[in-house]
Amino acid sequence: MVLINENFLQLKDSYLFSTIAQKRAAYQAAHPEANVISLGIGDVTQPLCPAVVQAMTDAVAEMSRAETFRGYGPEQGYDFLRQAILEHDYRARGVELDEDEIFISDGSKSDTGNIGDILGAANIVAIPDPVYPVYVDTNVMAGREIKILPTSAAGGFCAAPPDFHADMVYLCSPNNPTGTVLDREQLAAWVNYAKREGALLLFDAAYKAFITDPALPQSIYEIPGAKECAIEFCSFSKTAGFTGTRCAFAVVPKALMGQTAAGEKVSLNTLWNRRHSTKFNGTPYIVQRGAAAIYTAEGQKQIRQTLAYYRENALLIKNALTELGFTCFGGEHSPYVWLQTPNGLTSWEFFDLLLEKLNVVGTPGSGFGASGEGYFRLTAFGSHEQTTEAMERFKKYFGKK
Ligand code: MLT
Repeated sequence: MVLINENFLQLKDSYLFSTIAQKRAAYQAAHPEANVISLGIGDVTQPLCPAVVQAMTDAVAEMSRAETFRGYGPEQGYDFLRQAILEHDYRARGVELDEDEIFISDGSKSDTGNIGDILGAANIVAIPDPVYPVYVDTNVMAGREIKILPTSAAGGFCAAPPDFHADMVYLCSPNNPTGTVLDREQLAAWVNYAKREGALLLFDAAYKAFITDPALPQSIYEIPGAKECAIEFCSFSKTAGFTGTRCAFAVVPKALMGQTAAGEKVSLNTLWNRRHSTKFNGTPYIVQRGAAAIYTAEGQKQIRQTLAYYRENALLIKNALTELGFTCFGGEHSPYVWLQTPNGLTSWEFFDLLLEKLNVVGTPGSGFGASGEGYFRLTAFGSHEQTTEAMERFKKYFGKK
């Protein structure tokens, strides 16, 4: 019989968001009349903006004619999208990168997991807690030693460099689930740590579009020296509604080196390029055309409106909960509001209470790590109507009787 990768047996039975979806479906099946509002998984509700839809429609028309039809594209992505990213996401913020340092993909979830393919199983991995569960799960699958960096309300849920060695460090800023954003000084401390320890930083910036304070860095490459120690992951999912159409990118600078066990230096860009071209056949042309359209003047205007829409929801949630006496984090520079559960309830007890009494679905904080126990995440990605209704239900249930 075939041997399995036994590391998989170390994983929890089910991925966090699958468990939540199952619980919600079971409740809905038992209570078909219930109007359940989901503020759980961070899936967007606002449609692709008109500029994106037009670009995709034009691309479909191109694909329908023999003269303009395209088959396999470059695995790394089309020039038009990579150039737009270089210009708008980086040059505009004072960061110079080359086109062959950008790799277009089908999502940051895949990228943050797949990056492990090019990194040794003997690396020690440091992962802040609470954080997006994909980092832990994919490193458990790879059999790496994981060292958790617990964070707490007292430190604003910010992970600082530890006093022990790690070879790989995941950072997510703005953080999913707490909404915490690492400022320039905090990121610089991580870059210094990486340089000192010879560590690789895996910087997940999927939520950078929610940052409104111009003083806060949106890219780790705004910190001097980061090109020699960091890979960055960015996504169009939350920025522009691509959760269903799938488009993201990873930046793997050419200055970034790893080494063999014998100490021979190897370019991580070369390895990622090799992995990407072998295991991935490119994001669809139609989708990349849509993504490029968000960088046009019209596209920028339209996605800003959508981002403002979600920000309004975040504020609505944060204000309503604060008024009710909940302790809240995030909601600013982030689509997530992170709240402390009332009356010492565990995260899952609070999940059940919300589902059963309010018919509102959120995400239990403990699903993001042990330090998330006693906390809960609500997303701003619902519609205004659903968000308002959910907060009305909170007021009715948790308001002074
Ligand atoms: C979340 O809810 O944390 C995200 O939607 C998950 C993801 O982006 O994969």
